[in-house]
Amino acid sequence: MVASLAAMTAVASGTEEDSLRAEADERVAAILKLSPDPAYGAYLAGDCATCHRASGGSDGIPPIAGLPADYTVNALIEYKLGIRENEVMVVRVARLGDAEIAALAAHFADQKP
Ligand code: HEC
Repeated sequence: MVASLAAMTAVASGTEEDSLRAEADERVAAILKLSPDPAYGAYLAGDCATCHRASGGSDGIPPIAGLPADYTVNALIEYKLGIRENEVMVVRVARLGDAEIAALAAHFADQKP
């Protein structure tokens, strides 16, 4: 919660953009050091599959199966910190803690694209 407050403050001033990026990089690195539980990730991924279908599709929702874990973690942190602004994803990621993000990323990295 402290992080998102910092993010909101940072967005207000363009000169803070670099520190927001640095904060994101730091969080991503910390999450990638965790030992993720892919079974927990598979459980959590039920909520994602309603939108993110394996085939992708033409509705603007990108496929995420098979994405490298570091890419997924970075994307989710960017939604969390407001670097990416898609409302649907921002709302979902707000509920996820570091262990959840790590588990989801490990799960999707294990999937066939
Ligand atoms: C209600 C539909 C919906 C749900 C549910 C949903 N997403 Fe998304 N997701 C989207 C949309 C739409 C985008 C593209 C947003 C954008 O343009 O930034 C997206 C983008 C992403 C991206 C970025 C992909 C890329 O190629 O950069 C990731 C990673 C992602 N979602 C992961 C998840 C995970 C993990 C969950 C479950 C916790 C989830 N999403 C649940 C709709 C959804």
